[in-house]
Amino acid sequence: MVDIGCGSGRPIALALADAGFAVSGIDPSPTLLAAFRRALPDAPAACETAEASDYFGRRFDGAVAIGLLFLLPPATQAMVVGRVAQVLRPGGRFLFSAPAAACRWTDTLTGRESRSLGEAGYRVVLGEVGLRLVGEYEDGGGNHYFAAVG
Ligand SMILES: C[S@@+](CC[C@H](N)C(=O)[O-])C[C@H]1O[C@@H](n2cnc3c(N)ncnc32)[C@H](O)[C@@H]1O
Repeated sequence: MVDIGCGSGRPIALALADAGFAVSGIDPSPTLLAAFRRALPDAPAACETAEASDYFGRRFDGAVAIGLLFLLPPATQAMVVGRVAQVLRPGGRFLFSAPAAACRWTDTLTGRESRSLGEAGYRVVLGEVGLRLVGEYEDGGGNHYFAAVG
């Protein structure tokens, strides 16, 4: 399992590891990746962007990108989804978060313009690289999740 934009590893990567998954993390923030390495000392970790990463030169059964895709410009989101499709094994799963409806806003944490492609947009972007949208979920905090399969 690869956690893309893993941050400190809390809570996502740690929850996955606690559930028995072997997790690898990718994040371009040296500070957050150092925290990830402290939280998950045995997990492979790369201080890279999702766009530039070689994803450890391997393939995965699953990928998660929570709180990441919508921070990137639309073309970069599509590029990252394409990279995910390349590193997933057949039948592999990809879970990512983004608002259900297409929208733009300024992210309060980063000040960056954020943009959700919305369900229709993500369905197209996923389909273009051979991934299929198979589910959508909402958590108690109102965050929306898209689940895709390769
Ligand atoms: C909102 S935080 C989410 C962190 C973690 N996934 C979570 O759910 O707690 C967004 C993360 O994406 C990382 N990030 C920003 N741009 C990125 C990029 N181009 N590629 C990979 N990660 C990126 C940030 O460093 C940050 O750790």
